[in-house]
Amino acid sequence: MQLQRLHQAQAQLVHTEKMSALGQLVSGVAHEINNPVTFINGNLNYLQEYTQNLLDLVDAYQAQCPDPTPALQALVQRSDLDFLRTDLPKILQSTRNGGDRIQAIVHSLRNFSRLDETGLKTVNVHEGLDSTLVILDHRLKSVDAHKHPITVVKNYGDLPAVTCHPGELNQVFMNLITNAIHALETAEIEAKTLTISTAAVLRDRVTLSIHDNGPGIPRAIRQRIFDPFFTTQPVGQGNGLGLFVSHQIIVQQHGGTLSCQVDDTGTTFAIELPLTPQSITASRYP
Ligand SMILES: Nc1ncnc2c1ncn2[C@@H]1O[C@H](COP(=O)(O)OP(=O)(O)O)[C@@H](O)[C@H]1O
Ligand SMILES: [Mg+2]
Repeated sequence: MQLQRLHQAQAQLVHTEKMSALGQLVSGVAHEINNPVTFINGNLNYLQEYTQNLLDLVDAYQAQCPDPTPALQALVQRSDLDFLRTDLPKILQSTRNGGDRIQAIVHSLRNFSRLDETGLKTVNVHEGLDSTLVILDHRLKSVDAHKHPITVVKNYGDLPAVTCHPGELNQVFMNLITNAIHALETAEIEAKTLTISTAAVLRDRVTLSIHDNGPGIPRAIRQRIFDPFFTTQPVGQGNGLGLFVSHQIIVQQHGGTLSCQVDDTGTTFAIELPLTPQSITASRYP
């Protein structure tokens, strides 16, 4: 029993150290990318405006000089002016979309790692869920060999702000959603769906649930999924710490509950949290 507790404490310690180092790295990279991407996006505004002005100018010239010299005609032909006129705005717009997307990812990474905000904060948990989904977006898009995407359904209720450790809570969202994606990756179905639901309950609690319509969890191993190092993934892929650490964060750190239900619709992990943590342990280690 003592040995088992030592084992668990060690697993938690290793994981916490790793996440903290990773959090610092993510936050540093996000910060470094934020500056250049801000000026790229800022310049794109001008680029779009100036390009439109130049194209309008070319139109005006063409209208006023309907008979250009042969040299000018050759130039117009060489530059494929008609194509350029329709394609240039499209290229600029798609560059812009890319820039906006990078900015959204950077924002989510900073929001997700929340390094500047250790300790208790009163936050909107939907933001944490959304940041996690943005970060995992590429894994949701083409999830299997047939490139079946995962449809994300959000049933967000009207939630009050929750006082919690937001960085740790985001880690839980990441673990649960990653597991759901993983289950859907192997599922032999076309309509892969991840459903995230939230609701306020009993005046002072909220529930958040993550459901996937994947293969479920065999009854024989359901008892063990929260054990440290329990994994059904191949060596080198899963470390079996995701659910163990998530359980510690929800139960020990926040005084909530984390439960798993499996039925013929798939797997649901349900988190119930008090609006303010009920039994914060002085140390994170049980
Ligand atoms: N949504 C899910 N669907 C099916 N099985 C799951 C799901 N979530 C967790 N599991 C099972 O629980 C095990 C432990 O999960 P976890 O602690 O996150 O470790 P890991 O993801 O590294 O395997 C997984 O290997 C898998 O067998
Ligand atoms: Mg996992």
